[in-house]
Amino acid sequence: MRLLVENIGELVTNVAGTGSGGPLGLRRHAAVLVEEGRIAWIGPSRYAPAADRRLDAAGGAVLPGFVDSHAHLVFAGDRAAEFAARMAGEPYTGGGIRTTVAATRAAGDAELRDNVRRLRDEALRQGTTTIEIKSGYGLSVADEARSLRIAAEFTAETTFLGAHVVPPEYADRPDDYVGLVCGPMLRAATPYARWIDVFCEGGAFDADHARAILTVGQAAGLGVRLHANQLGPGPGVRLAVELGAASADHCTHLSEADVEALAGSETVATLLPGAEFSTRSPYPDARRLLDAGATVALATDCNPGSSYTSSMPFCVALAVREMGMTPAEAVWAATAGGARALRRDDIGVLRPGARADLIVLDAPSHLHLAYRPGVPLIAQVLHNGVPQWQ
Ligand code: NIG
Ligand code: FE
Repeated sequence: MRLLVENIGELVTNVAGTGSGGPLGLRRHAAVLVEEGRIAWIGPSRYAPAADRRLDAAGGAVLPGFVDSHAHLVFAGDRAAEFAARMAGEPYTGGGIRTTVAATRAAGDAELRDNVRRLRDEALRQGTTTIEIKSGYGLSVADEARSLRIAAEFTAETTFLGAHVVPPEYADRPDDYVGLVCGPMLRAATPYARWIDVFCEGGAFDADHARAILTVGQAAGLGVRLHANQLGPGPGVRLAVELGAASADHCTHLSEADVEALAGSETVATLLPGAEFSTRSPYPDARRLLDAGATVALATDCNPGSSYTSSMPFCVALAVREMGMTPAEAVWAATAGGARALRRDDIGVLRPGARADLIVLDAPSHLHLAYRPGVPLIAQVLHNGVPQWQ
C-alpha cells in the first residue's frame, strides 16, 4: 500500500540544508509517499508518484512525530494532593516518589499495563510516536523486572531506573541497596531494558553510587542516561559526560563547567519544562546551552509527581515562552533532539528510508505549536505509516 500525503502547507523534515535551510529543513509544495511503514519519497507535489491512497493535509503543517525521550509511565495512583500542596507553597523534594512506589507495588499487572496504555494513547493523540518508558517505582527485584516487562510491551526504549530513590526498607543501609541494584536487580532488568538511568541528586544517589551503578549497567550492555542537576547544582552532568551518556536529563542548575562539558560532548541535554511548571521552579536556561553549542532535547518527564503531562506541544510552548528557545529550536528539540537523546537516526526526521512517523497539524506552520498553547492542533498522526484516526 502506497500512501501519499499531499496538500502540505509546510513540511518540517529536520534535514538541514534542504528546502529553505535552517535546522528544520522546511519545504513548501512538497508531498510525502509512505510505503511499508517507511518514507519512500519526498518531493515537489507536482512530481508525486502514483499511490493507492491519499491523505489530504488540508494545507496544514506536517512534521516528524514527537520523540519523548523521558517518561515514567509504569505506576499506580496519582499525587494530585501533593501538587495542590505545592501550589499552596510547599516545595518539591522527590520524597513523594515513595508514595508512588507503595501504590505501584500494591497494584496488579493489569492495572499497571492499563495505566501505561492510557498514557501512551494520550501521548499519541498529541503527536508522540516514540516514547521512552522508565521503571523506578518498583524498587524491588520483582517489581522493577515487572515494570520493565510491561514497559517493553509498549516501546523499545525502556530504561532501568532501579536507582530512583532508596526504598524505605533500605533506608538505613543505602550501600546494600546499591549492591542489590548492581547485582540481582540489574540481572532481572537487563532482558527488558535498553537503557540504565540513575537519579543523581541530593536525597537520591551521589556521584560514587551513580558511577558504580551506571558502570555495571554499561558492562551489561545497557546505554547510559542520567537524571542530573534537577533540584540543585551537582556532579550529575559531568558524570554523564564522563561516561559517554546518551543524555543528561533536567539540566536545570548548571555551572559554566557543566555547560562546557555538554557542549564538548555527544551527550544531549534533555530539558523537561513540565517538571519546572509543575513544581513551580525556575526553568533551565536552554539559550545558554544552545549558544554554547550543546545539543538540546525536550521531553515531558511524564510522571505522577513532578510532571503529570504527556503533552509534547505543551513542552514546546513552555520552552519557547520560558526558556529562550525559538519555535524552530523547540520543534527540532522535541523531534530530532529526542531522537539524538535515544541515539536513533530512523526517527525525528523525514527523509526516504526513515520511519513513517509523522504529524499533520490543523495549522499552517510549526510556529502554531507555541503560538496556540493548549489548543489541540494535531489533526492526524501516522505511526509506522498507519493513520491513527479516520
Ligand atoms: O524526573 N527526579 C526524579 N524523578 C522524577 C520525579 C518522580 C516523582 O516525583 O515521582 C523526575 O522528576
Ligand atoms: Fe524523570
